[in-house]
Amino acid sequence: MRPKILISNYLLDDAVKLARSRAEVDYHVGEDPLPRAELIARLKDKDGLVCQINDVVDDEVLGSAPRLQIVANVAVGYNNIDLAAARRRGIVVTNTPDVLTDTTADFAWALLMATARRVVEGDRFVRAGKWHKWEFMRLLGGDVYGKTLGVIGFGRIGRAVARRGLGFGMRVLYHDTVPAEPAVERELNATYADKATLLRESDFVTLHCLLTPETRHLIDAAALRAMKNTAYLINAARGPIVDEAALVQALAGRWIAGAGLDVFEEEPKVHPGLLSLDNVVLAPHIGSASEGTRLKMATLAVNNCLAVLEGQPPLTPVTQ
Ligand code: DGY
Repeated sequence: MRPKILISNYLLDDAVKLARSRAEVDYHVGEDPLPRAELIARLKDKDGLVCQINDVVDDEVLGSAPRLQIVANVAVGYNNIDLAAARRRGIVVTNTPDVLTDTTADFAWALLMATARRVVEGDRFVRAGKWHKWEFMRLLGGDVYGKTLGVIGFGRIGRAVARRGLGFGMRVLYHDTVPAEPAVERELNATYADKATLLRESDFVTLHCLLTPETRHLIDAAALRAMKNTAYLINAARGPIVDEAALVQALAGRWIAGAGLDVFEEEPKVHPGLLSLDNVVLAPHIGSASEGTRLKMATLAVNNCLAVLEGQPPLTPVTQ
């Protein structure tokens, strides 16, 4: 008998076809995530779930699916899944690392450049018909080349962001729970720093850690106060790593120069204070959103799901 999979959100056709070639697929194609009650109802007879970060897969959801063997998240982050509950129930959880590393690092850099060089403000200015003459002092931003890049969370994406900093002649500081191997530090010309030093010395602080109880509000009012008032904060990791209300104060009060955000504390809600500020660039959680990468993410998630349901080890299990 073919295994039964629920694909709970829109996925690219090739990945859905792959799933259908080896499993019976219940596919929710709607624009919105499945309401919780419907997710629970449709999971009851399923062996596998291919889900996205909009789906809250907690103990109750897992407990209502007695046949469930695998939850394959189409994302590298997995804070939408209760890992401990999955482990207790013997359910494998997988994510999609590696395939999105460079795309996400590119986007963190897009935010960094757009924020420092005021690209979005420039665009709004031109579109509003306000550009009447070249002006020496119009939209002056901060330089990027030769500055200090502070990377918090020095995993795959953090390192890819640091690597790009080499091309801009930047000094790279990084902070993580454990220092990287010396060979990595040499290759990326990166120096380990405690959080306080990194915040104090960096011109750009970019966040690439997982959201955990320890990293929730890692950037709070005190951290923002510790940054240079010429510095920029970039977040393409998870919204709750930053205390958004404190960030609004910091941007409005010019404790820091600006911020580039791809993620928010209560997505898709954005703190109203951010919407009225010019010194912040806002994006709708699109860090890994390139056509090529989305297909790789979808295919990897489906392959993880099929592997487990066919008795093989998952390709990219979450081992935390
Ligand atoms: C991830 O992969 O965790 C992104 O945030 C969603 O694609």
